[in-house]
Amino acid sequence: MANQEDVFKKVISHAKEYGYVFQSSEIYDGLSAVYDYAQNGVELKKNIREYWWRAMVQLNDNIVGLDAAIFMHPTTWKASGHVDAFSDPLIDNKDSNKRYRADVLVEDYVAKIEGKIEKEVKKAAKRFGDAFDKNEFLSTNQRVVDYQEKATTILKRLGKSLENEDLADVKLLIEELEIACPMSGSKNWTDVKQFNLMFGTKLGASAETAMDLYLRPETAQGIFVNFLNVQKTSRMKIPFGIAQTGKAFRNEIVARQFIFRMREFEQMEMQFFIKPGTQKEWYEKWKENRMKWHLSLGLGEDNYRFHDHEKLAHYADAAADIEFRFPFGFKELEGIHSRTDFDLSKHQEFSGKKLQYFDTEENKNYVPYVVETSIGLDRMFLAVFSNSLKEEELENGTTRTVLKLPAVLAPTKAAVFPLVKKDGLPELAMEIINDLKWDFNVLYDQKDAVGRRYRRQDANGTPFCITVDHQSLEDQTVTIRHRDTMEQQRVAIADVKAIIHKEIDMKSWLMKMS
Ligand code: GAP
Repeated sequence: MANQEDVFKKVISHAKEYGYVFQSSEIYDGLSAVYDYAQNGVELKKNIREYWWRAMVQLNDNIVGLDAAIFMHPTTWKASGHVDAFSDPLIDNKDSNKRYRADVLVEDYVAKIEGKIEKEVKKAAKRFGDAFDKNEFLSTNQRVVDYQEKATTILKRLGKSLENEDLADVKLLIEELEIACPMSGSKNWTDVKQFNLMFGTKLGASAETAMDLYLRPETAQGIFVNFLNVQKTSRMKIPFGIAQTGKAFRNEIVARQFIFRMREFEQMEMQFFIKPGTQKEWYEKWKENRMKWHLSLGLGEDNYRFHDHEKLAHYADAAADIEFRFPFGFKELEGIHSRTDFDLSKHQEFSGKKLQYFDTEENKNYVPYVVETSIGLDRMFLAVFSNSLKEEELENGTTRTVLKLPAVLAPTKAAVFPLVKKDGLPELAMEIINDLKWDFNVLYDQKDAVGRRYRRQDANGTPFCITVDHQSLEDQTVTIRHRDTMEQQRVAIADVKAIIHKEIDMKSWLMKMS
């Protein structure tokens, strides 16, 4: 079996080879942690965004959308706490001169312990067969219990030190665990320092009058500062939400994981405004709702888990991540945060403008509390893409590379092939294309043998291939081949559209959430 690193390398090279993701400015040797989405990538990304937007905005009559500007008044970031507190602990290795996030070094160490637990579980499952009870094994096997305890103790200590800004203890922890630089193996570390992640820029033509600005590090603040505008003009009553998707920028210290951690990325965020005191209930509801959204895509229940935060961000009273099993292990995909009234109260304080809601049932004004759901679109792209990429051994002994994207998200829904480039078959294939293209993305391919064309579309993630042959001219039928099962059916041309629609219809996918 290929190791994690090989699998991840394959994901990256496949994304490039099939026109999904390119390194930004590649002809100039690229820009670190910045990526461009190519012809297929842009479609997959758009479809994921749409799948989120429909689930959040269209299906909830108490959530509306927003598209706030990336540039915001600089005081926004003072009020939100980002100027003072939006930083990561960095550490340098003195021998390799490589820079790391100190907390990530420790978390990676813990991930290795978790990997050992998983290995023990797999071994035991194999040994005990059907009689295996995972929960009992986890709580009674002494070696596993010890691993678990070690992992928990380390994470607790890290969380506490970060919360108390005790960076000396973070360094001590790295030293005690004998964590070495992954590049050089050296354990010669500098002290841990805080590093602010916001990118600064300037607004204005002349140096004297230019105003210092930041590129937004999260889209959420655009929602907070528009809270009253939206509430009043939409006449929403609490509880209600505002959703938006858009670019965010962070000067990440370490960005070596392809589109997992980028310096320019896209977020899909929703702030849900609620009555103070109801935050626990809404926090649980949104955790459940968001997990259902993920599971509806069928990437496998075992690939998700919740992780409650030990260290809370400066604005939160509870927070959890939905983690996904990426090729490099379980990592954060989405955050659900109970943000209290921190942001609105701070904007009220810094702007001098009231950001309160008049609750007619309670007959009083208050600053609403907020539960936020925040997912990285690029991270979701990576989750979907990496999970879908498979190498399959076929019955005839050959292998095929297939990108089993959920059909609802696939960039191209169908490819249409004439069996040969003559006898009127290309013309009939084009007729079919000209009909289908009004409904979804289709492509035409007449090059190479049909088997090779199938392989090309398998690797491209196209769920259906339609082949036009001589019989098609006589009886107006074609073969439709399903990417995942490789099954082929002879169907009437008139039925093709309905067959494809049934598989790609967003409504039926989203209904799996209920
Ligand atoms: N408004 C809350 C917020 O921004 P966060 O946990 O910092 O919370 C939310 O970010 C999500 O944004 C993460 O779960 C992740 O999916 C995505 N994200 C954060 N930093 C990222 C980066 N550098 N590159 C790609 N995605 C990122």
